[in-house]
Amino acid sequence: MPLVIAMDGPSGSGKSSASKGVARALGLRYLDTGAMYRAMTWWMLDRGVPVEDGAAVAARALDPEIVSGTDPDAPAITVDGVDVAGPIRTREVTNAVSAVSAVPAVRTRLVELQREIIGAGGIVVEGRDIGTVVAPDAAVKVYLTASEEARAARRAKDLAADPGASVTVTRAEQARRDRLDSTRKASPLAKAAGAHEIDSTELSLAEVIEAVVRLAKEHE
Ligand code: C5P
Repeated sequence: MPLVIAMDGPSGSGKSSASKGVARALGLRYLDTGAMYRAMTWWMLDRGVPVEDGAAVAARALDPEIVSGTDPDAPAITVDGVDVAGPIRTREVTNAVSAVSAVPAVRTRLVELQREIIGAGGIVVEGRDIGTVVAPDAAVKVYLTASEEARAARRAKDLAADPGASVTVTRAEQARRDRLDSTRKASPLAKAAGAHEIDSTELSLAEVIEAVVRLAKEHE
């Protein structure tokens, strides 16, 4: 089966940049599953669904049509035909996404879509439950971490345009999101069996990409 590389880890660990870089280096497709949970959350907020009410979210989980591209150079995501690549990155969505992604009906729906996209393989997939649930047979599984400080600093840099996004605020919001993501009942963030842990705190992006590419080549 063509290669599937599963990249899991907490927010701000550098997963997105590393996953895109690995996909480019190896000529593979790329899937950002976090963008799909964000798109679902954006849609719930847009429709006025109370996102802290799991039953209300579950009741609408099948309604939005979420389409995700797989080009690492132009990651695209639409909901009901609307391009939401920008809106899914707002703080409002970021702070609501953990509640929505903890709802089992949401996960069932999105995991099914993700498996369809993964299909025959040839893809780098990033998320929280790729090695554990979505693609447990992936040839290469990576669990990417970084110190809390390094992760908050990276996130704050991503959000530089947002005046409310100081390192302190970002760090608190991120800690809350990671706590929710790792303690939820449905598919919590966890290191998969057989995953290679890479701590990116002291590594450059190029070094992380190189380490994953090496693992992929060892597997060939
Ligand atoms: O990766 P990103 O930070 O964009 O993910 C946003 C949120 O989506 C995470 O905080 C988590 O709640 C959820 N998520 C998930 N499972 C995945 C990917 C993301 O629950 N595979």
